[in-house]
Amino acid sequence: MAEIDPGKLQLFQFILFTKLEGAFTSALVHLGDQLGLYRAMASAKAPMTTAQLAQLTQLNERWVREWAYNQAAAKLISTESEPSDPPTVQDDRFFLSPEQAVVLASEDHPAFGAGLFHSLPQTMQLLNDLPESFRTGIGQNYDSRGAQGAVGMERNFEPWTNANLLSAVLPKLDGVVDVLDRGAKVADIGCGTGGALLLMGKAFLNSKFTGYEISKYALARAVERLERSKLTNVSFADPREKPLPANNSVDLITTFDCIHDMTHPLQMMQAIRGAITENGTWLLVDIKAHDAFTMNATKNPMAALLYGVSVMVCMSSSMSVPDGAGLGTLGLSASTAEKMAKSAGFTQFRKLDVDHAINAFYEIRP
Ligand SMILES: C[S@@+](CC[C@H](N)C(=O)[O-])C[C@H]1O[C@@H](n2cnc3c(N)ncnc32)[C@H](O)[C@@H]1O
Repeated sequence: MAEIDPGKLQLFQFILFTKLEGAFTSALVHLGDQLGLYRAMASAKAPMTTAQLAQLTQLNERWVREWAYNQAAAKLISTESEPSDPPTVQDDRFFLSPEQAVVLASEDHPAFGAGLFHSLPQTMQLLNDLPESFRTGIGQNYDSRGAQGAVGMERNFEPWTNANLLSAVLPKLDGVVDVLDRGAKVADIGCGTGGALLLMGKAFLNSKFTGYEISKYALARAVERLERSKLTNVSFADPREKPLPANNSVDLITTFDCIHDMTHPLQMMQAIRGAITENGTWLLVDIKAHDAFTMNATKNPMAALLYGVSVMVCMSSSMSVPDGAGLGTLGLSASTAEKMAKSAGFTQFRKLDVDHAINAFYEIRP
């Protein structure tokens, strides 16, 4: 056996256990979100003891205290102390900085991040099935995470979409806002629970919008939200029951973060080509990825997270049938997307200048 360097050994153990710390702390972020602890802290006028926080949230103080110690040690919440002798649990007060409040407790702020932790229990439960997937090659689609998986997706994507789709994305597409104002036919494929479509439907009442989604949980929630919205220019469908029209009649097609999840992305691009008008626009939004693993690993500080999400969610979904393409979270680089779109019959491919931490935006035209 090669000689072991004690310094390197210790450093590597530290690196490994920081990952485990991340897993346990993530579980407690989920609880902080679900139990309203962050929202209570964000609404407080002043730093609170854990007794005050427990009272505000109607929770047991001892559990709240241990949660707060984890969160403060992980630097996710802030703390101030007035040491007494001997120390008491009243010495420590907890609060959220303005930045922590926005990311952990402001659902309508584009930087809201707690939504990413919403379906952590359902995602982690898939660990029971993944060994079998590694053996057979067959993964799990989005419905494997149940109804809460769909809610998690919505809470993850919508804060940014609500703040930016109408003001910072659609105006970057050549002529599209005018077309939508006049009255156009629009399809959002892989629409999840329909947030982007409902937003566009409300903004462009002369246009007609259809959302296509294969997740029964997401689709049911989209329909419920549509009923509540009272919009009459929006509908939702399962493309296996009602396929995309194949008569080049749709003016704008959008795909937000879903092509890399699909079992047959090239066939989907061909269906999009068959559905879109000759001067129509396809807005492709997908994860910013490089062409090779080494480039992702060295240039993307979130590469480990994204490859992890890929195994648990995205690649699993794209491998959920025996002949699944298996693109995965970082599988649709700009050059792969362009090559695939061109082989599906598109000729124009333009990267849009939209500022987003994870996603890239492309305008694709016949
Ligand atoms: C990461 S989610 C994105 C959802 C939504 N676009 C959003 O931004 O919130 C990917 C979605 O694509 C859906 N999907 C995967 N394959 C699909 C297909 N062939 N047709 C329609 N939807 C599909 C999944 O069910 C899932 O809801």
